[in-house]
Amino acid sequence: MDNRSKQSMLDQAKQWVYDAGQLIRDMMEGPYQINTKKDHKDLVTEVDEATEQFLLNKIKTIYPDHQVMGEEGVGEDVESLEGTVWIIDPIDGTMNFVHQRRFFAISVGIYHEGIGEIGLIYDVMGDVMYEAARGQGAYKNRRRLQPLDQTKTLEDALIGLNNVWAMPNRRLKETTIHQLIAKAKGTRSYGSAALEFAFIAEGIIDAYVTMRLAPWDVAAGMILVNEVGGMTTQIDGSPLDLLQKNTVICANQAIHSELLTYIEPK
Ligand code: IPD
Ligand code: CA
Ligand code: CA
Ligand code: CA
Repeated sequence: MDNRSKQSMLDQAKQWVYDAGQLIRDMMEGPYQINTKKDHKDLVTEVDEATEQFLLNKIKTIYPDHQVMGEEGVGEDVESLEGTVWIIDPIDGTMNFVHQRRFFAISVGIYHEGIGEIGLIYDVMGDVMYEAARGQGAYKNRRRLQPLDQTKTLEDALIGLNNVWAMPNRRLKETTIHQLIAKAKGTRSYGSAALEFAFIAEGIIDAYVTMRLAPWDVAAGMILVNEVGGMTTQIDGSPLDLLQKNTVICANQAIHSELLTYIEPK
């Protein structure tokens, strides 16, 4: 993808994401339907679906050949990353959206032949746009984000960690997670994977560890974090596969390699 078409796609996508944010804020004023998916903790609302549909319609009018993968399934079933693929989470943090009316984001990652080119994460109620284009740095509301401090270690780090992973679970050895929590400076749970990536890029948390994220949770965030020198892998150090769910460790290089030693699958 040449730089001119990348820049115009970034400008276009950003405008659509701002407009989608306005749609969400408008729909929040009225009553909206809330449904559950796999259990009572897994929510989806009319607003999630309308936002995904809105973005899909915009993309298809200008870029009919691009594929669109979205959490709520209004796009197509994407089975390969060939060509240009938009990976969308219309509301990342639906639980926060419903219960807190804030702390949720729209996440849009654009991949070309499998390479992450553009990442947008929009904190809708905070009106904060995080954006990145591969090789051109990451920005928060147009202010360039600084490269991560690669000398920072776990002892000095705030780790994004959902407390379910410190409870008995079938994926991880809890003892090592307990040691990790004891060693780190602190832990935080924000309830939006996309925002946790954005906060790493911003340098206000230092790592994010989680055991099961879908492509739309990570697609934009990985691009953003890459641009400030951070890395994202699965818990065995292998790259993520954007056609399925993955485990995730995201941090600067030093903390990332420390984390690999603390996170052991069962
Ligand atoms: C969820 C949020 C949450 C993470 C879950 C995701 P959703 O996304 O990112 O922080 O822990 O794994 O599924 O469903 O609110 O878009
Ligand atoms: Ca969801
Ligand atoms: Ca999500
Ligand atoms: Ca979502």
